[in-house]
Amino acid sequence: MSEGLKIVVYGVGPIGSLIVKLLSSRKGVELIGGIDVDPSKVGEDLGVVAGLGRSLGVKVIHDSISWNYLKSVKPDVVIISTGTYLDRIYPQIVRAVSAGANVVSTSETLAYPWYRYPELSLLIDELARKNSVRVIGTGVNPGFVFDALPAFLTSVSAEVYRIHVVRSLDASKRRYSFQKKYGISLTPEEFMLKMSAGEITAHVGYAESIMLLGCILGVSIDSVEEGQEPIIAEKPMETQYFKIEPGRVSGIHGWGVGYVNGREFVRLDLLASVGREDYDEVLIEGNPTTRWRCETGTPGDIATASMVVNVIPRVLQAPPGLLTMKDIILPSVFLGDYGWYAGKT
Ligand SMILES: NC(=O)c1ccc[n+]([C@@H]2O[C@H](COP(=O)([O-])OP(=O)(O)OC[C@H]3O[C@@H](n4cnc5c(N)ncnc54)[C@H](OP(=O)(O)O)[C@@H]3O)[C@@H](O)[C@H]2O)c1
Repeated sequence: MSEGLKIVVYGVGPIGSLIVKLLSSRKGVELIGGIDVDPSKVGEDLGVVAGLGRSLGVKVIHDSISWNYLKSVKPDVVIISTGTYLDRIYPQIVRAVSAGANVVSTSETLAYPWYRYPELSLLIDELARKNSVRVIGTGVNPGFVFDALPAFLTSVSAEVYRIHVVRSLDASKRRYSFQKKYGISLTPEEFMLKMSAGEITAHVGYAESIMLLGCILGVSIDSVEEGQEPIIAEKPMETQYFKIEPGRVSGIHGWGVGYVNGREFVRLDLLASVGREDYDEVLIEGNPTTRWRCETGTPGDIATASMVVNVIPRVLQAPPGLLTMKDIILPSVFLGDYGWYAGKT
């Protein structure tokens, strides 16, 4: 009997829910369950929690019983969309990998985990190899705009001297958790305090993208600088979730710079604020010098969910271990039969 690729979604927030929606219409996918900690989701049907408008016939279970649950349902793939920092999601990865599942996660720091978490990276790599499965972090950013995309654009370059990527986006179009972590509507003082206390993060992953890009290009990055500052509203503004008075935070300017031999090799600029123009632009200075621009921007939430869903077959074709976007076959949308990969890895 032909079986589908069994997938569990760990973290059914806005991004996990979008992933459930996309997976539910892909051929050969068997969504076998969800895991969360939110009491309003636990015990409910995964399809209902994800806002599918229909039941999938499987429940969301609580994280506290995930170890036994994963061992009993034996998924082929666990999607982890619970958090950003690898030390926080490490136990979730261990549970999934120990149950023999491959892991695809939206964790920003997992996109190039050796930068912030070298010891955990070694442990995950070892455990993944032992269980013959793969672990990868990806999404829109890190995972695409600041790293995999500019890397791909250099395929036609004879020489590259410097890469500059600008991502400009209208923060009002993003989900509540995005606007909250970017400090929308805070005073500048509150923004600085919450950022230094780690209560909000804005974007995480400038350094991971720079290291990943360097690694794909075979360039050794000597040092990385990153920073973020608030963009202040000059007039009253409003999003679906926040009212912003003049003088309060309407978004951020964040940056990352990667140096090679003391010279700037990569510069990443993120301009994310309410009402801002959406576009992505990549300048590659080299031979030839090229400029690529996406006039629509890359809508981050659907792009992240799509990247996660689309890389699954590529990840399953890669060798076991802790992977990055460098280690998989060139990603694209995948409209084929996911069931083909069931039990083949
Ligand atoms: N790489 C990229 O490009 C990219 C793009 C978008 C998002 N992300 C990242 O992806 C993650 C998910 O995004 P989101 O907006 O959906 O986040 P979110 O709103 O925080 O949702 C996460 C969900 O996971 C649940 N959760 C938290 N800890 C858990 C645990 N230990 N076990 C099971 N469930 C747990 C949360 O429950 P509670 O709400 O009760 O805590 C919530 O339901 C975030 O870390 C985000 O930064 C990355």
